[in-house]
Amino acid sequence: MWSARYPAGVFLLLLGCLGSTTEAYWPYTSFKTGPWQPPQLQLNKTAGFDPSLIFIPIRNENTLGTAVTIYDNDGEMVYQGPEAASMDFRVQRLFGEDVLTYWSGELEIGGGYGYGKVHILDKTYQEIHTITLTDKFVTANNETRDSYIDVHEHYITDRNTILVSAINITQHDLSSLGRPSDSWITTNLFYEIDIATNEVVFKWNALDHQDKIPLSESRQWIYTYPVQSMSWDPYHMNSITPTKDGYIVSMRFYWSGYYLNKDGTVRWQLSGDIGNGNITGKDLRFSWQHDIRIYNETDEHLVLSLFNNANKVNKSSETTAMLFDIDLTTMTGSLLRNLSDPTDPIYANTQGNLQILGEETHTSNMFVGYGSSPNVKEYNGKGEVVLSGEFGALEHAMSYRAFKNKWEATPFWNPAAVIEDGVVYMSWNGATEYDNWAIYSLPSLDSNATQPINTLPRTGFETNMSITDIDAKFIKVAARKGETILRFSDLVEV
Ligand SMILES: *[C@@H]1O[C@H](CO)[C@@H](O)[C@H](O)[C@H]1NC(C)=O
Ligand SMILES: *[C@@H]1O[C@H](CO)[C@@H](O)[C@H](O)[C@H]1NC(C)=O
Ligand SMILES: *[C@@H]1O[C@H](CO)[C@@H](O)[C@H](O)[C@H]1NC(C)=O
Ligand SMILES: *[C@@H]1O[C@H](CO)[C@@H](O)[C@H](O)[C@H]1NC(C)=O
Ligand SMILES: *[C@@H]1O[C@H](CO)[C@@H](O)[C@H](O)[C@H]1NC(C)=O
Ligand SMILES: *[C@@H]1O[C@H](CO)[C@@H](O)[C@H](O)[C@H]1NC(C)=O
Ligand SMILES: *[C@@H]1O[C@H](CO)[C@@H](O)[C@H](O)[C@H]1NC(C)=O
Ligand SMILES: *[C@@H]1O[C@H](CO)[C@@H](O)[C@H](O)[C@H]1NC(C)=O
Ligand SMILES: *[C@@H]1O[C@H](CO)[C@@H](O)[C@H](O)[C@H]1NC(C)=O
Repeated sequence: MWSARYPAGVFLLLLGCLGSTTEAYWPYTSFKTGPWQPPQLQLNKTAGFDPSLIFIPIRNENTLGTAVTIYDNDGEMVYQGPEAASMDFRVQRLFGEDVLTYWSGELEIGGGYGYGKVHILDKTYQEIHTITLTDKFVTANNETRDSYIDVHEHYITDRNTILVSAINITQHDLSSLGRPSDSWITTNLFYEIDIATNEVVFKWNALDHQDKIPLSESRQWIYTYPVQSMSWDPYHMNSITPTKDGYIVSMRFYWSGYYLNKDGTVRWQLSGDIGNGNITGKDLRFSWQHDIRIYNETDEHLVLSLFNNANKVNKSSETTAMLFDIDLTTMTGSLLRNLSDPTDPIYANTQGNLQILGEETHTSNMFVGYGSSPNVKEYNGKGEVVLSGEFGALEHAMSYRAFKNKWEATPFWNPAAVIEDGVVYMSWNGATEYDNWAIYSLPSLDSNATQPINTLPRTGFETNMSITDIDAKFIKVAARKGETILRFSDLVEV
């Protein structure tokens, strides 16, 4: 995900996640009904954008707004989760139901990886599964962790398993590359874990496949003497997708995706460097990529998408989101889409993703999360920008991936109501299904004589109403869909 060497801003940013600075570099919103402080999602949009919600695991330089966050297409917050370093926040399908998934844990500042768990929440935000990984891992400082799931991948398959990435720090002879024989490297593994039981059903280690993925082909600069506390990171695997016959993995530091057979052996390599790999085509040009996904796979053909960071070293190469058509009979590829915003070129040197929205065709709208650049953009079938959003100041905020998903949730917690200076404020963090509020008065705590006072349409995250003219001792509010009450708040004293 990140490079081994950081621009100063990124370094500060990650430190900031630990709460060392409090300065806000970007406007944020605060509320009366709770402690949420989401950064504003500033949006430009035109007709034709997808109506689903926007999911961003925001990482800010300070703790302010560092949380998984859902916004609507007006930039209004819909949900903010617990304050934590989180990644890969999205809706996935599990046992035929929509679930919310995200990673949270500790980031390794120096190496661009992490150790954590995957949280799987149902449509009431109850955590129904917490996926953990333990194995014989070695870390940079020998410290042990209670779960070793890395930040990069947490993909639920249609067999109700989850694909997760993991990091091992291991000693490796690099004398063939002119480095000491007792050097240390960062190796990438992935695990397929059965969600119901948390049992590992498949395990793959890049180091076991040096015949097809030789260390000599890594593009990542090697230190003179890679040691355990500062090892060489040759692969930087950042996505794993199930395929018909196995998996496809994205290796950022090889500018390549590798198609793996079910037994983990390499079938073919798609390289972004002309002349390398097994697929040829003059437009197969990308580098330092993230998020390789495939669609419409048959024995003869597939469509492949990726986020082309393009510029880890050369900062003047523009980041694009790409879709290729791959003919597996001739082993040739052609470019279907190469998305960028001519009015707002972005140079995201780390992280990022591309999501096809709605029907998975190459002319569908596509949503792009710009990783280290705090931007999201949605493109229509003609490649025009229909929505452009920004949620932080460059170098002070980022997200690993961003998604647009349909999400219908009714939280297990109640709506919040607060009275301040003669105004009642109401909100329901995470609720997507209510469209109006009903406000009631009560003469005493133990009374059931609820008197309706008013109804109000939902306005953004928090709605308010003056009650200075109302003779009430207690107030409660109900979040409603039409005339149906979904949930009452607790009673609040006037
Ligand atoms: C980790 O432990 C091993 C074995 O005890 C030791 O040789 C090595 O120096 C330790 N590494 C670090 C970075 O502390
Ligand atoms: C990690 O590396 C250590 C040291 O080389 C090795 O003993 C251990 O088995 C490796 N762990 C995994 C999960 O491959
Ligand atoms: C892919 O390229 C490698 C290296 O040139 C070669 O060894 C391998 O046979 C090729 N595989 C296919 C499926 O063409
Ligand atoms: C993709 O678009 C970028 C930005 O416009 C451009 O620099 C690059 O050459 C394009 N890539 C291909 C393969 O056409
Ligand atoms: C950096 O990228 C720009 C734009 O793609 C290109 O013109 C230039 O030659 C590249 N420079 C280097 C050193 O690769
Ligand atoms: C998948 O195939 C269908 C039918 O040929 C096509 O309409 C669609 O665009 C393809 N999807 C992608 C992502 O190319
Ligand atoms: C929205 O458009 C304005 C005017 O062109 C521009 O200054 C601003 O940066 C845009 N914001 C986003 C998030 O695209
Ligand atoms: C209010 O309703 C509760 C539950 O239905 C009931 O037990 C209680 O007696 C009622 N109190 C009054 C004052 O009517
Ligand atoms: C109360 O709601 C109105 C209408 O939505 C809004 O303009 C106003 O800013 C809100 N007041 C406060 C203090 O949130």
